[in-house]
Amino acid sequence: MRLPRLPFDPASLSRLTLIACGSAFLAAHVGRYSIEGLARLPCDADVASELRYRDPPLADGGAAILVSQSGETADTMAALRLLQVGGQTVLSIVNVPESTMARASDAALLTVAGPEVGVASTKAFTAQLAVLACLAIDFARRRRQMTTLEEGRLTQALLAVPSHAAAILGQDARIRELATEVAKARDVLFLGRGPLFPITLEGALKLKELSSIHAEGYAAGEMKHGPTALCPSGPLFEKTASNLQEAAARGGRVMAFTDAAGATALSRFAEQVVTLPDIDSFAAPILHAIPVQLPAYHVAVLKGTDVDQPRNLAKSVTVE
Ligand code: G6P
Repeated sequence: MRLPRLPFDPASLSRLTLIACGSAFLAAHVGRYSIEGLARLPCDADVASELRYRDPPLADGGAAILVSQSGETADTMAALRLLQVGGQTVLSIVNVPESTMARASDAALLTVAGPEVGVASTKAFTAQLAVLACLAIDFARRRRQMTTLEEGRLTQALLAVPSHAAAILGQDARIRELATEVAKARDVLFLGRGPLFPITLEGALKLKELSSIHAEGYAAGEMKHGPTALCPSGPLFEKTASNLQEAAARGGRVMAFTDAAGATALSRFAEQVVTLPDIDSFAAPILHAIPVQLPAYHVAVLKGTDVDQPRNLAKSVTVE
């Protein structure tokens, strides 16, 4: 995998700062997991509105990645200026090529998701996750943390994303069914671990944005109670399954997104299990984003709220 010329050499960095707002921040949060995990590069992931007033110490010759669909968000732009004044080289990941952020950054990577009309970010979010996954592989190779064989395996996992995404979208009727139960809930908790933790935050954000149901994303290890979960099989499966079982034992109504291997174990106590394709854990956040966003869409349709233009929200926040 070869990416366009970067404005910094990932091999010479000792730290990387990832900054964004809203869903773009949650994509950056996933990026932190994959860049740290694969490239062994320590990362900070922060929301722009916090970074800009925190006055963080910035390493000499350091680098930052900004993530933004519009490339116009006021707080992210302010963070860009602060980072540049602090001597950081800034790469932005944007969807709008002619945006202020793309032009003001040292370099821009385009998500090429096409115009996104709905206020709640969906395809731009998926594309941001994909670009960050590519960067994680690229950084790992340049930092000599990855064999050619591993690079090939992860690249194949990314190439399989479109067909897996189509298979997940093929389960839309099943997810709509699940959404009818979610629509009745007063509170919904999304549980997941590792890079799926930020995806739980995204699921909760979407449900709040589109249907005004109280929702929270939670790192499963922190949780004793909750009705919706991402729990694919893998090294952390047993731990997350045990959190969910505890939740069910305490009266939580558990709905789980998992794979074939996880479905058997979870169906013993989960009220609903949606079986997703067997996905390489590296690509899992990109694909799990779909079934966590879809229920928010269906719940909004069921409740009659405006899916494209939720009240009190703007597509692009250009004032503080
Ligand atoms: C607003 C939108 C969100 C978006 C966020 C960041 O809050 O409603 O969907 O994630 O801004 O926007 P950006 O254009 O910087 O990605």
